[in-house]
Amino acid sequence: MNEDKSINKELFKLANSVMEKAYAPYSKFKVGAAILDDNDNYHVGCNVENAAYPIGNCAEASAIAAMIASNGTKIKAIAVTGYGDLLCTPCGGCRQRIREFASLEIPIIVGNEKEIKRIFTLGELLPSSFGPENLA
Ligand code: THU
Repeated sequence: MNEDKSINKELFKLANSVMEKAYAPYSKFKVGAAILDDNDNYHVGCNVENAAYPIGNCAEASAIAAMIASNGTKIKAIAVTGYGDLLCTPCGGCRQRIREFASLEIPIIVGNEKEIKRIFTLGELLPSSFGPENLA
């Protein structure tokens, strides 16, 4: 439990610091994400927008790409941070992206620039979901 708490804090810190690096000149909404993978390695990502709006990347997608490129195969926990008081929960598409590499029990730590605001499980954010087992 205490170990979990320190992992959550570490993930929050990493997400919060990479959030600053986001390239978000259009929305001006910077997002950071940090993943702990099945090899106990950490990976971070931020949103990267584009003048052709729809091809921008979410922070979670960037962090997942970094995990895959470093031989991670499973997400054990993920933190997502954005500025302000409204919860910066992963968008619908990113919930599904996380689902590809995670069990429904993993924690999704949601924070802002100051602190952790809420912790959800993936199952809470994406109930009755479709996943890789459907195609097995
Ligand atoms: N954004 C993310 O990076 N992750 C999310 O889950 C929600 C939205 C980004 C996309 C876009 O660059 C900006 O936030 C505003 O939508």
